[in-house]
Amino acid sequence: MQHKTLKPFPDDFFWGASTSAYQVEGAALEDGKGPSCQDVKEIPEGTSDLSVSVDHYHHYKEDIALMAEMGFKSYRFSISWTRILPNGTGEVNPKGIEFYNNLIDECLKYDIEPIVTMFHFDMPAALDERGSWSKHESIDWFAEFATVLFENFGDRVKYWLTINEQNMLTLVGPVIGTLHVPEGTTNLTKEIYQQNHHQLVAQAKAMQICHEMLPEAKIGPAPNISLVYAASSKPEDVLASQNFNAIRNWLYLDAAVYGVYNNLAWAYLEEQDAVPTVTEEDLAIMKAGKPDFIGFNYYNTATVEASDGSEAAGANGDQQSHLTFPGVAKSVDNPNLVKTEFGWEIDPIGFRGTVREMYSRYRLPLLVTENGLGAYDTLTEDGKIHDPYRIEYLRRHIEQIQLAITDGVDMMGYNPWSAIDLISTHEGIKKRYGFIYVDRDDFDLKTLKRYRKDSFFWYKKVIESNGQDLTD
Ligand code: BG6
Repeated sequence: MQHKTLKPFPDDFFWGASTSAYQVEGAALEDGKGPSCQDVKEIPEGTSDLSVSVDHYHHYKEDIALMAEMGFKSYRFSISWTRILPNGTGEVNPKGIEFYNNLIDECLKYDIEPIVTMFHFDMPAALDERGSWSKHESIDWFAEFATVLFENFGDRVKYWLTINEQNMLTLVGPVIGTLHVPEGTTNLTKEIYQQNHHQLVAQAKAMQICHEMLPEAKIGPAPNISLVYAASSKPEDVLASQNFNAIRNWLYLDAAVYGVYNNLAWAYLEEQDAVPTVTEEDLAIMKAGKPDFIGFNYYNTATVEASDGSEAAGANGDQQSHLTFPGVAKSVDNPNLVKTEFGWEIDPIGFRGTVREMYSRYRLPLLVTENGLGAYDTLTEDGKIHDPYRIEYLRRHIEQIQLAITDGVDMMGYNPWSAIDLISTHEGIKKRYGFIYVDRDDFDLKTLKRYRKDSFFWYKKVIESNGQDLTD
């Protein structure tokens, strides 16, 4: 739809950016923090471990000051479960509470709204040993953690996100380094969807507890949502795109918003002999937990064609989330899109399409919790980082948000990935996303000094003009 006049961004739009604890904090075992699965996983070859990351733990004041200089209205970060509960349950670590109190207060000092993710890929190692999400009691572990967070930070944190990218944990867990496979597993798909089910219930319970304990606060999920296109107008390809959309996207949002399993996704699980055990009580919790908004990460769309069942299951191409499900859908490259240096397709228009579809299905305000470009950046001798490619990527996505707002979509904010350089999930720090450059590489910590990239100055102007000035 073409619009003659564009609607402005709302005055209270959350312009900001995102990070996650294990990817920025470092201090991995400092001040009483227990190990998480990220601290004990096998590190992908050629990439850094997570012990120092970009040392946000010791640089948070400087980092928040830089975010304030850009004019951030919000900062989305995650709380490390094992900094708060070193063993995952039981004893609370006062130093961990103190760190996040300081971080939250530092944000508020500059009128930056803290948006807190409760779980971002960092299961306590102690709980991994006890069976991780495969255990039904993981629902209670997460509820206990949630309660501690609400008790300690709920007086100041008004926006909460439950589980980051639960769909990616389920679909590509081994890439992120999070998949727990119990001994004796014979049907891995069934096991994975049992864990997924426990996460859905845990999320619903956390939303319920949040509303009981903090009636003023708002809480939502944070999956990775992107439209799946049909590769052609062949009816078989269109059905394949509906299948993949259900398995990738709607399974997670139907459960979070309506407390039910998506019928197509359920049919897929039946075909795989992978239906999870679901108790009456689980269903009641899923129905009772209601989000106030939907947080979601968007990087790119996927494209599929019909699968005759003869293909191999798994990733198809450079992008880990472009999967093939034999007999269901087969991922293919989209010839209309260009790719990043790391092989991810770029699709700003698909961003608008995705939010239009989400809003018409769920009618809840939408908060962008991630979007961004991973690229090789170069620090010049005079301390500059010229990243026009990042500016171009972000500009084209922000333009689409304004078009979506004009389409009638209720958009709450834009928090791209990432506020500051960090360690990517499996490609190290060489794949940079931040507005702020950190002087280190994968195997040399160097100075850890912070530098403002060109995109830093550009984003400052975007925020100052409330999204009206997107020029360089
Ligand atoms: C999202 C995650 O999947 O994408 C982040 O929530 C991650 O943790 C980001 O860093 C970019 O992915 P990657 O693999 O390039 O780090």
